[in-house]
Amino acid sequence: MISKKIFALLLFEFVVLNCYTEFRSVAQLLPEEEVRALETISSKLQNRYWNVSRSSCSSGGLNGTIAGGFISNVTCDCTFSDNSVCHVTRILLKEFNLTGVLPEEFSNLSYLLELDLSRNYISGSIPATFGRLNLTTLKPHQRFDSPEIGDIATLEELILEDNQLGGTLHQNLGSLRRLRRL
Ligand SMILES: *[C@@H]1O[C@H](CO)[C@@H](O)[C@H](O)[C@H]1NC(C)=O
Ligand SMILES: *[C@@H]1O[C@H](CO)[C@@H](O)[C@H](O)[C@H]1NC(C)=O
Ligand SMILES: *[C@@H]1O[C@H](CO)[C@@H](O)[C@H](O)[C@H]1NC(C)=O
Ligand SMILES: *[C@@H]1O[C@H](CO)[C@@H](O)[C@H](O)[C@H]1NC(C)=O
Ligand SMILES: *[C@@H]1O[C@H](CO)[C@@H](O)[C@H](O)[C@H]1NC(C)=O
Ligand SMILES: *[C@@H]1O[C@H](CO)[C@@H](O)[C@H](O)[C@H]1NC(C)=O
Repeated sequence: MISKKIFALLLFEFVVLNCYTEFRSVAQLLPEEEVRALETISSKLQNRYWNVSRSSCSSGGLNGTIAGGFISNVTCDCTFSDNSVCHVTRILLKEFNLTGVLPEEFSNLSYLLELDLSRNYISGSIPATFGRLNLTTLKPHQRFDSPEIGDIATLEELILEDNQLGGTLHQNLGSLRRLRRL
């Protein structure tokens, strides 16, 4: 009788402990704030290709290739808080025909280092809030003329295709001290 009880107890503990470790090693979640930011970005750009949730980094819901080679490639760093917390570090959304104004919510992704939105129909200037980011690489939407670019002090690469640089933009590039590639 007693040994049965002990056995049951041991079994219970085994299961609980096992679930706990399983859970800890599997769950790699995005913070709510980044989920909200990604959702807002998606709806503002009418991006139908992302499945945004807290587990997007492990489920692959942000990655996809559409026939024709249009690529969405989102990279997360999931090494935070003992490998349980992810942050979005790189977003490539290329040739998706996205429309709308460049959402300032990109700057809510605090760990974003690279952003490539080339070959879309996104309009608007670079939001001043981008200056909060430690962005190192920016490949913006076509045709922009944003003096705010000078506020992203961490920028190392600015890749402009078919962009006509305006006078103010020109001047502000001078304040990008880390720029290696233009
Ligand atoms: C982005 O950050 C700003 C400032 O912290 C906040 O007011 C806003 O609600 C955030 N937006 C989203 C979509 O989380
Ligand atoms: C997307 O794919 C790249 C490899 O192509 C991978 O490194 C990355 O972790 C994937 N991201 C997500 C959110 O699944
Ligand atoms: C998003 O979910 C839909 C429906 O489940 C699926 O068809 C689509 O391939 C998913 N997209 C990505 C990028 O995972
Ligand atoms: C996605 O990005 C990662 C990180 O830069 C890169 O290693 C990988 O090759 C990319 N995948 C695709 C399909 O472009
Ligand atoms: C973008 O538009 C081009 C030209 O209309 C089309 O061929 C392509 O399939 C579109 N791409 C996507 C991802 O819808
Ligand atoms: C951005 O860079 C600053 C200065 O190097 C650093 O203190 C801060 O932690 C970085 N932010 C993130 C989100 O990595």
